[in-house]
Amino acid sequence: MRFAIIGAGAIAQLRKAAIDRLDGSALAGVFDLAPDRAAALAGRGRAYASLDEALADQTVDTVVVSTPPNTHEDIAVAAIRAGKHVIVEKPMAPTLEACRRMIAAAREGGRILTVGFNHRYFPAIKELRASIASGRLGELSHVRGYTGHTGLSEFKAEWMYAKDVMGGGALLDNGIHMIDLVHHLMGPVKDVCGRTQDKTWQLDRVEDNGMALLGGMDGTIGSVAASWTEWKGYHFYVEAYGTRGMARAYYAPMHFMEVTMDRPGGARRKRRNFYLPTIFAEKFRGWQSTAVQTLMEEMADFIALTQGRAPAGPIASAVDGFRSIEIAQAVYRSAETGSRVTLENAP
Ligand SMILES: NC(=O)c1ccc[n+]([C@@H]2O[C@H](COP(=O)([O-])OP(=O)(O)OC[C@H]3O[C@@H](n4cnc5c(N)ncnc54)[C@H](O)[C@@H]3O)[C@@H](O)[C@H]2O)c1
Repeated sequence: MRFAIIGAGAIAQLRKAAIDRLDGSALAGVFDLAPDRAAALAGRGRAYASLDEALADQTVDTVVVSTPPNTHEDIAVAAIRAGKHVIVEKPMAPTLEACRRMIAAAREGGRILTVGFNHRYFPAIKELRASIASGRLGELSHVRGYTGHTGLSEFKAEWMYAKDVMGGGALLDNGIHMIDLVHHLMGPVKDVCGRTQDKTWQLDRVEDNGMALLGGMDGTIGSVAASWTEWKGYHFYVEAYGTRGMARAYYAPMHFMEVTMDRPGGARRKRRNFYLPTIFAEKFRGWQSTAVQTLMEEMADFIALTQGRAPAGPIASAVDGFRSIEIAQAVYRSAETGSRVTLENAP
C-alpha cells in the first residue's frame, strides 16, 4: 500500500513513522501548503507541488488527510474522485453536511473512507472492549468517559480552537475521541442531552468543558465529559459498568482494572494490567511510541478493508466519524434548547 500524506504537521509525523514501520506499506509523497514541511517529511518520497500533483500520482493507493478539519472535506472528496482510498484524521469535518458529502463520495466512488480514531487501539481500551464482550461484567448498564487537557497552553496553532475550523471546542478536540470510544463501547445511541461551559478561556463560540448523557438504543447509558481545564495535565479514562462487575481503562500511564462478581454483590475478583512494555517505551521514546503503535494497527485494518478482508481490530468507519460529530452537535443543540436531541438515521 502506497500512501500520500496531505498536511505535514504534528500527526503526520506519527503517520509517517507508522507507515515506515508497517510491513508492505510505503510513503509515496507529501503535500503541504508549506513546501519545506512537505519536503522534510517526504524524506526519500516526493514533495508534491500541489494537491492535484499528489492526486495525479498513479503510484498512490491511499491518501491520509492530516490538515485542519475545515479542509478535510475538499481534500478527501478530491482524493476519492481521483480513485484513492482515504484515511481522514479526527474530527471528520466541522459540519454534519460535510460528513454526509464525504460518505456519499466514497460510496459513489467505491473507495474506502475511514476516520482516524486511533484511541480505539490503545491497549487498555482494547482490553476494556474484550472485557465487555466476554460477558464477565454481566449485562452492560453504563459506560462513562472522561478526557481532559490543560486547554489553551496545549495548542500549537490558533485554528485548534477556532469554531469555524474545528466545529466546536473541547468536545470536537480531545472530546471527539471520547465520544467515539463511549459510542463504540456502549453500542448505538438514540438520543443526547448535554451542557457546555466557557467560563475559563471565554473563546468565541467554543466550550472549554462539555458534558453529554447518551441514551442507548438498548437502554444502556453513556456519559462523556471533555475538558480543556484539566489542570493536572492530559489524561483520559473510560469505565464500563455491568450487572456483575466493572472495568476501567486509564491513560496515562496506561492501566486497566477489572472487578467481577459471581452474582450482583457477590464475591469479588480483581484483575489489573499495568502494560509495563508500553510504559517503558513511553519513558524512553515518549508518548509518541504508543500513538505510532496504534496508528500501525489502525492502518493494518485499513489495508485489510481495501483488500476486501475483515479487519482484525476495531477500525472506525466514516459512519462512526459522522456519528461522533452528530453527537457533539446534539450536545450543542441540547445545551441551547435545554431539550433532549434524537439522532437522525445514519447515512
Ligand atoms: N488522532 C489524534 O489523536 C490526532 C492528534 C493530533 C491531530 N489530529 C488531527 O490531525 C489533523 C492535523 O492536526 P495537526 O496537529 O497535525 O496540525 P498541524 O497544524 O500540526 O499541521 C497541519 C498541517 O497542514 C497544513 N495545511 C493546512 N491546510 C492545508 C491544505 N489545504 N493543504 C495542504 N496542507 C495544509 C499546514 O501547513 C500544516 O503543516 C487535525 O484534524 C487534528 O485534529 C489527530
